[in-house]
Amino acid sequence: MILITRKLDDSIYQKLSQLYDVDEWSQSDEVMPRAELLRRAAGKDGILCTLTDKIDEELLRAAGDNLQTISTLSVGYDHVDVAGLQARGITLGYTPDVLTSSVADITIGLMINAARRLPEAAAAVKNGEWGAWSPDWMTGRDLSGATVGLLGMGKIAQAVAARLRGFDCRVLYYSRTRKPEIEASHGVIYRDRDSLLRESDFVSVHTPLTVQTTGMCDDAFFDAMKQTTVFINTSRGGLVDHDALHRALQSGSIYAAGLDVTTPEPLPSDHPLVSTPNCIILPHIGSASIQTRQRMSQIAAANLMAGLGDGEFISKLV
Ligand code: GLV
Repeated sequence: MILITRKLDDSIYQKLSQLYDVDEWSQSDEVMPRAELLRRAAGKDGILCTLTDKIDEELLRAAGDNLQTISTLSVGYDHVDVAGLQARGITLGYTPDVLTSSVADITIGLMINAARRLPEAAAAVKNGEWGAWSPDWMTGRDLSGATVGLLGMGKIAQAVAARLRGFDCRVLYYSRTRKPEIEASHGVIYRDRDSLLRESDFVSVHTPLTVQTTGMCDDAFFDAMKQTTVFINTSRGGLVDHDALHRALQSGSIYAAGLDVTTPEPLPSDHPLVSTPNCIILPHIGSASIQTRQRMSQIAAANLMAGLGDGEFISKLV
């Protein structure tokens, strides 16, 4: 028997229910409450989950010995205790690659929106603040020709770098391991982290959330950036100390920020960043194109089946 923790496209349910008994959380589009998740995990052979379900020791114990596989509908797996799965011989399928373009697109979208102040400008039209054309009104900063610093050089960062070529940007990157082949193929230039922060007009984070990277964008990080720099995060909210980001935006020590991810999610509407005019926050929609989410669901279903011995994994982490 399998558990699907979230309402997915009906075709996924139909496909999986031809092979297995399916327990699907289909009451609403809400996250399954934790107690319900623990209860319904018990005795399952496989679980298809999303990034909102914490797959930790407690869950694995609640699931019990039948559990053979977890399939997450996400590229990120910071919600999964990977070592705990490995210790039990449980496989983990995930959905990288297929969402790379959608997330890279939204990263570029946030860069332009934050730097050129598009939400403020669009609001001015609705609020009746739009007066006669003015030389200085609503001016922002160009992405074209800018120096962009990417922290991390995985698939999404590479796709962002490829798009930035079209904007004639100079692209710097920092990652723990230098990647000469990507420097050659994508024309990106390696910098140590501090030099990247000092030189870049845009800084975009593309590192996974781990114990080492949690809170890495702190006061010192923002202080190292230029006052004209735009900060972008489409990776995980936990990478950023949001109080430090708020201080940096308020004090003018950076120019603007564009976030698709925050901690917590959803970010309460009374959080100070929400009312900060030079901060644009999207509700974690990086991969939310219809095509990408359909493909992610298909891959998650195929991975679940593979974990139960029916077919091949499309993407397997462990
Ligand atoms: C989205 O954030 C994902 O990890 O797929």
